[in-house]
Amino acid sequence: MPWSLCLVLCSLLAGTQADPGVLLRLGMDIMNHEVQSAMEESHILEKMAAEASNPQPGAKAIKGLSNMKVKDVLEPVITLNFVPGVGIFQCVSTGMTITGKSFTGGNMEINVVLNITATDRLLQDEGTGTPMFRSEGCEVILVSVKTNLPNNKAINKFVDSTLRKVLPGLMCPAIDAVLVYVNKKWINLTDPMPMGQMGTVKYALASPPNTTASHVQVDFSPVVQLQGGQRIQLATNGTAPEFPEGPAKDSQLLLSATFLTAELALLQKSLEVKLKDKRGTVGKLPQTTETLAGFIPQVAKTYHKPKPLLIKVKINKPPKVTMKAGKSLMHLHGSLEMFAARRHGKHAKSLFRLETHIGLEIHYSVQENRLQMATSLDRFIEPVPGIFFNWRFPLLSETELSGFVTDYLQKAYIPLVNDALHIGIPLPDLLAINYNLAELDIVEDALVLGLKME
Ligand SMILES: *[C@@H]1O[C@H](CO)[C@@H](O)[C@H](O)[C@H]1NC(C)=O
Ligand SMILES: *[C@@H]1O[C@H](CO)[C@@H](O)[C@H](O)[C@H]1NC(C)=O
Ligand SMILES: *[C@@H]1O[C@H](CO)[C@@H](O)[C@H](O)[C@H]1NC(C)=O
Ligand SMILES: *[C@@H]1O[C@H](CO)[C@@H](O)[C@H](O)[C@H]1NC(C)=O
Repeated sequence: MPWSLCLVLCSLLAGTQADPGVLLRLGMDIMNHEVQSAMEESHILEKMAAEASNPQPGAKAIKGLSNMKVKDVLEPVITLNFVPGVGIFQCVSTGMTITGKSFTGGNMEINVVLNITATDRLLQDEGTGTPMFRSEGCEVILVSVKTNLPNNKAINKFVDSTLRKVLPGLMCPAIDAVLVYVNKKWINLTDPMPMGQMGTVKYALASPPNTTASHVQVDFSPVVQLQGGQRIQLATNGTAPEFPEGPAKDSQLLLSATFLTAELALLQKSLEVKLKDKRGTVGKLPQTTETLAGFIPQVAKTYHKPKPLLIKVKINKPPKVTMKAGKSLMHLHGSLEMFAARRHGKHAKSLFRLETHIGLEIHYSVQENRLQMATSLDRFIEPVPGIFFNWRFPLLSETELSGFVTDYLQKAYIPLVNDALHIGIPLPDLLAINYNLAELDIVEDALVLGLKME
C-alpha cells in the first residue's frame, strides 16, 4: 500500500478503535494458579509417559533400547516469568524413571530430572477474539541423569544423546497440551451475557492483550446492548481509564463509571413507576389526600373526603453513575407526579408534578460473580423554583412537601430501584476467576476489584 494511502487508512482505522471502559490486570498469582490447574486437569505428563510406553506404530525405535517404559513421573514444578511485550516464559521441572532392556541385554533404569522450557506467546485469537497462548521454542534441559548401567564414559554419552533425541518429542507436546487447557479458560470471555430480560453485555477486547514485567493486561471495550439490539454507546471522551497507583503486580479489574452508566441504561425503564403499577404499593400510597391537605390548602378545599393517592415516577434520561474516592452516586433525572384516585373507570386526577434530580448513594458488592449495587438516599435535590409543572396550589410548607416526597422515596421508591438493580452486572468470565473474593475500592471515576486467589 502506498505510504500516503496508509496515512489516511491507518489513521482512520486507529480512529475507530474504541476507548476501553473496563481494564483487567492479571498478576503472577493468577497466571500461576491457572497454569498449575491446567497441568493438573490435563494429567498431561502421565499421559505422555503412558504414550511413551506404548509401542508407537511407525515411531522410530530407539537404537539399543527395547521394551521401554516410563514410570514414576515426578510432580511437575512450574515456574513462570513475564516477558514484556511477548507473554510468559514457562519452565516445567519434573523427573521420571525410564526402564527397558539395554543393548547389553540387561535391565536398564534411568532416573532423569529435567526442565522443559518454552515461551508462551500471548496473542488474540482471530476467530473468537479471545486471548490465547501459543508456545514457541520448546527445549528440554537435562538436569541430572542417573543409570544402573556401568559408569562408563561411552555409556553415559550414549544415554545422554539418546535422551536428548527422544525427550523433546515426548515432552514438548505436553506444553502445547497444557496451553490448550489454559486457552479453554478464556473461551467464554467474549460471549454476550444477559442482564435479566433487559439486554446483554459482551466483554470484547479493545486491543490485543499486553504483557508487562509484572502482569498481563487486557483492555475491554464492552458492548452493551438492549434486548431489541440497540447498542448503548459508552460515553468515553478519549481519556482511557487507568489503574490507580499501587503495587502493579496485584490482579485487578477496573470498571469505569462510564461502563457502569451504560449498564444502568438497560434498567432505565424498570426504574419508572406507572399509575397502574403491578408492583404492589409502589404507585399507591398508604396516605390519602388528607395528608396533603395539611400543607396544600387547595387539596383541603377540593377534597372534603379523603381520596387515595397515586404516584407516577418518570425517568427522563439514562441513570448516571459518578465516582469520587470512597463514594459513588447514581443520578436519576425525571419527574414525580401525584394523583388523587377517582371512582372506578375514571382517570386519576393530577395534583402536582415535581421535576426531580434524585441522588442515590451506591453500595457495591459481588455475589455469584455478579456486581451487585444497592442504593440509599443520598440527598433529595430540592426542586428548583419555577420548574413545577401543573402546580395549581399554594403551599403552606415546602419542608413538609419535601418530607412527604423523601418519605415516599425512602419507603417505596428506593426498594423498587434496589429490586431492579438486583439483576447484577455480569463480570468478565475468564480463567474461572472467583470475583466473590474481590476487595472493592471506589476511586476517581472507577470501581476497582482487587482479585484474590482462593
Ligand atoms: C531447572 O529449573 C529450576 C526451576 O526453574 C531451576 O531452578 C534450575 O536452575 C533449572 N536447571 C537447569 C539446569 O536449567
Ligand atoms: C463455557 O460455556 C459453556 C456453555 O455455557 C459451558 O458449558 C462451559 O463450561 C464454559 N467454559 C468455561 C471454561 O467456563
Ligand atoms: C504494553 O505495556 C507497556 C508497559 O506498560 C507499554 O509501554 C506499551 O505501550 C504497551 N503496549 C501496548 C500495545 O499497549
Ligand atoms: C473525560 O472523562 C473523565 C471521566 O469522566 C474526566 O475525568 C476527564 O476530565 C474528561 N476529559 C475530558 C478531556 O473531557
